[in-house]
Amino acid sequence: MKQKIEIIQGDITKLAVDAIVNAANNSLLGGGGVDGAIHRAAGPKLVAECATLMGCRTGDAKITAGYKLPAKHVIHTVGPVWHGGSKGEPELLRSAYRRCFQVADENGLQSIAFPAISAGVYGYPMAQACEIALQEAKIALETYPALERVVFVPFNEQALRIYQETFARIFCQGDE
Ligand code: AR6
Repeated sequence: MKQKIEIIQGDITKLAVDAIVNAANNSLLGGGGVDGAIHRAAGPKLVAECATLMGCRTGDAKITAGYKLPAKHVIHTVGPVWHGGSKGEPELLRSAYRRCFQVADENGLQSIAFPAISAGVYGYPMAQACEIALQEAKIALETYPALERVVFVPFNEQALRIYQETFARIFCQGDE
């Protein structure tokens, strides 16, 4: 199962997968960070389609086309803003990942790439966010047999190391 997971440092907008995930806000009308990068690369038709979706609740996810992106689709999700961890942040982040996998499955998608949802402007500590991301990938791979490829896209070297260490702990324990 762990062979279906990849960690690729870099810019998620370059990936030719069935869907890239956008770490959006409740309006779905664009913003900074990865959201801004995705909208710039996809072109103005993306925000036009997003405007028809009537926003998105925190912990939910909605799908659009990918337009000028190499990815076929964008799954827009909204992670929680970090307020110290006792305001339901872990549950909401888990829900965001879970809904992305569910929406991907409902649309027959086999490959999906994630940025570190909530771990930028929204302030979620990277190591804790990464733990949830990889735990949810494990659950999704057990739940959806059609899912072939899950890519995680840390944006810098520090995040890359956290993903690699967390991956080793969750997926390789007990290996020789
Ligand atoms: N590819 C991959 N990862 C990226 C890219 C990229 N091109 N650009 C940034 N990251 P953030 P959030 C990383 O702030 O915390 C937006 O304004 C970044 O280094 O994009 O969920 C929305 O509209 C960080 O590790 O998302 C919302 O208002 C991670 O992506 C708000 O920010 C997520 O950082 C959402 O905040």
